[in-house]
Formats: sequence, structure tokens, C-alpha cells
Amino acid sequence: MASARLRELMARGTALLGSEVAIICGAMSWVSERHLVSAVSNAGGFGLIACGAMTPELLDTEIAATKAMTDRPFGVNLITMHPQLMDLIAVCAKHGVGHVVLAGGLPPKGSIEAIRESGAKVICFAPALALAKKLVRSGVDALIIEGMEAGGHIGPVATSVLAQEILPELAKDVPIFVAGGIARGEAIAGYLEMGAAGVQLGTRFVCATESIAHPAFKKAFLRGNARDAVASVQIDPRLPVIPVRALKNAGTEAFTAKQREVAQMLDDGKVDMAAAQLEIEHFWAGALRRAVIDGDVENGSVMAGQSVGMVTKEEPVADIIAELLEQADAALGAR
Ligand SMILES: Cc1cc2nc3c(=O)[nH]c(=O)nc-3n(C[C@H](O)[C@H](O)[C@H](O)COP(=O)(O)O)c2cc1C
Repeated sequence: MASARLRELMARGTALLGSEVAIICGAMSWVSERHLVSAVSNAGGFGLIACGAMTPELLDTEIAATKAMTDRPFGVNLITMHPQLMDLIAVCAKHGVGHVVLAGGLPPKGSIEAIRESGAKVICFAPALALAKKLVRSGVDALIIEGMEAGGHIGPVATSVLAQEILPELAKDVPIFVAGGIARGEAIAGYLEMGAAGVQLGTRFVCATESIAHPAFKKAFLRGNARDAVASVQIDPRLPVIPVRALKNAGTEAFTAKQREVAQMLDDGKVDMAAAQLEIEHFWAGALRRAVIDGDVENGSVMAGQSVGMVTKEEPVADIIAELLEQADAALGAR
């Protein structure tokens, strides 16, 4: 259990989330479904369902199933470019979901308002200080700042730099959660002392016993080192693809080929830029499913953060959280 000092440092985060500790398990498409989400919330952390490309009907089922597995608070992560975003927000409202995280770009007009009207709290990703300020003015309840060390879609700036740029300016106005590259409690203690209200971890939870990720996916994590988790490369300057961090494999090469194919489609006037980018996103969604669910870790996308080298065994979520708290407490105690 967390010491009084650690609880005090996390107080704003736990007040916002309604959880025991301000540790969010970041939404991971295909991985963050009912089992992992409920396990994290039941262990005192805060679980997030990854809606990803789910239809409103599928999200409806997933929320209901998660509720059946935990009576603790959990949230839903929605991707802003989903064509049915407003319908997904309505599904969350129907279930009285308390927290909605908007990921993947600035929230479209009306989305923040619609979530707040349902009584839920809105949490957004802030990729830079100016945008963070804008989001605070738009009425978001909390921010996540995520550095490029993270697994999955990433921005260009490191967690350590974002934390120094944004926490001193905005931590007093709104609770801020730091994500990207965190796998030990010492780092959690450090960001809390800098003013963070809590943290979000993804990579560290993939190999939880309760995670439904395929055994081959988990094995790839247990074998992986920091330097194996590389960001995808943009090959055509006209086609601005959001980089994705994943373990290097044959799928990495397939992405290069996919970009060439989409660039050619652009050249031939077969697609416009928006359709080209959607084509790329569909590629990732399919490739991630192939690795997480089917276990094809050679040709699929094994999205993983640089902290993957610190994932050394499969263990229950409760043990992961207990260890993080122990390390954070030890670090604070040694100050
Ligand atoms: C396999 C995988 C899938 C992810 N999918 C999503 C997603 O669908 N939506 C999202 O907002 N973030 C996604 N992320 C990012 C996580 O929610 C989290 O912010 C990130 O993992 C934190 O950094 P870390 O990996 O260094 O702990 C994903 C990360 C991983 C590793």
C-alpha cells in the first residue's frame, strides 16, 4: 500500500479518477478489453477500454461486460478520427461511463461539450504546451502528456522534455498525467514531485496475467530490449504518417511497402490525402490485431514502448501495481 506521502502526491489524480492510486493503464487497442481493464481497476488503478475502430454496438457490449467484472471506476478511450465519434460518446453516456479519453488528434467541435453534458470527465492528450493551454481553455478536466518513448502512435518529443515544458506551466490549473517510458516506481515518484497528478503506463501492463494478448505477443515483450522498440519511418514527404513505435520485425518492412503503395495511389489520383491517411491507419489496426490476437509477431505489428526491456515476467496486475508503489515509496523515502 502507498505511504501517506505518495498518497498525498497522487491525491489530485485519485480524486479525478475515483481510484485508489493514480496509475492509469493506457488504452491499448485489442489488449485493453474487459479482462485487463477490470483487473486494473479491481487492483486499485484505473483501467481504460480501447475503443479503437470498434463500432458503437461493440463498444456497448464491451462496456457492459467490463461493468459485470468490476464495480470500480474505469474509462473509455476514443479515437477522435473515428467516423462515428458522437455515437460512441452517446454509448458511453448511456452506460454512465465516468471518464472519456480523447486520443489521436485535437477533439472535433462539440465532442468535449457532448462528453461533459453526459456528466463524464474529459481527458485529452496534449502534444505541446500551446495546445495544452488551448485544451484547458476548451474545458478539459485533465491532460495526458505522452512522450515518444511510448508504444503505439507517438509524437516527436521525449517525455522528460514535455514534462519540463508543461508541468511547471499548467499543473496548477488541471491534473496532468505523464505517459511514455515509465516502467518503475522511481520514475513515477519523480514525475509526481514535478507536479504530475498521476501517470499512465501501457507497455508494462501488456504481459499481465489478465491480459488476453497472445502468448507469442507476450513472449516478444519478454525478449525485447529498449533498442528493439523502434519508431516507423516516413518514406514519402507528402504523406504525413504518424509514427508508430513497435518491435522491429518483418511487419516493419511491410509498412514501408504499404506507404509506397498509398503514395502511388495518391500519385494516380485514386485517393485524396484524408483517404490515404485512413488507409494507413487501417493498416496499423489490422497489423496490431494480427500480432495481439493471432500471435503473428513476425508479420503483425508488435507495438511496444522503449520500456519493454523492463518487462521481465508475466504476473498479475495487482503485483505490478504493488511493485510500482513499493519502488515509488522507496524512492521518496530515500530523499
Ligand atoms: C500495443 C499498444 C497499443 C496501443 N494502442 C493505443 C490506442 O489504441 N489508443 C491510445 O490512445 N493509445 C494506445 N497506446 C498507448 C498507450 O495507451 C499508452 O499511452 C502508452 O503505452 C504509454 O507509454 P508506454 O508504452 O511507454 O508505457 C498503445 C500502446 C501499446 C503498447
